[in-house]
Amino acid sequence: MAPPLPARFITLEGGEGAGKTTLARRLADALASVGLPVLRTREPGGSPGAEALRGLMLHGRVAWDPVAEAMLMFAARREHVARTIRPALDAGIWVICDRFADSTLAYQCYGHGLDAAVWHKLADVALEGFAPDATLVLDVPLETGMARALARALPDRFERLGHEFHGRVRDAFRAIAADNPRRCVLLDAGQTPEAVFAGATAALRDRLGITL
Ligand code: TMP
Repeated sequence: MAPPLPARFITLEGGEGAGKTTLARRLADALASVGLPVLRTREPGGSPGAEALRGLMLHGRVAWDPVAEAMLMFAARREHVARTIRPALDAGIWVICDRFADSTLAYQCYGHGLDAAVWHKLADVALEGFAPDATLVLDVPLETGMARALARALPDRFERLGHEFHGRVRDAFRAIAADNPRRCVLLDAGQTPEAVFAGATAALRDRLGITL
């Protein structure tokens, strides 16, 4: 019998309404159906402290200083990694996470103009080299994504930021995927959910050696 694959950390990234949640659910089901334990989680959030910060950042009334906002994202992320993600991986549980550090680079740096050097410093302190094993970047035209997101719920603080902001975020995710070809794959999320799922499983087979 082949030795069991080590548990892996998979992140899903992309703009609003790209279909990350649907894909995360399908991937979790697929991993479970081949007998692998799996945890689905999200950012900001995924642990008690990080969920409390999520409420402040997404639905609070504070207009954060850009560096402070990035620090809060990384504070939430460090809690999430320490309390949820690492313990799961150590226990042999695969982790699928809706957003991770790439989102801070896309939203706070490309979107809000924060210097990428700040992102690198915060990532060094908060993550100490910890990174996803594979990242699926979902790319969707802005109109499609916003229509999907707004059909789902009232807009949160980030969804209200406007077309130009979200254009920069989309460009950011495409650049991040291009800059990290071993970790990231860019998927056309304007396709059907079935086609996106097929692209995702092909990418995970290539990168992690898992057949779903
Ligand atoms: P979502 O759960 O709908 O993806 O919402 C999370 C929002 O938070 C989304 O608009 C992106 C934003 N966000 C950042 O700005 N920076 C980050 O680091 C993360 C994780 C999310």
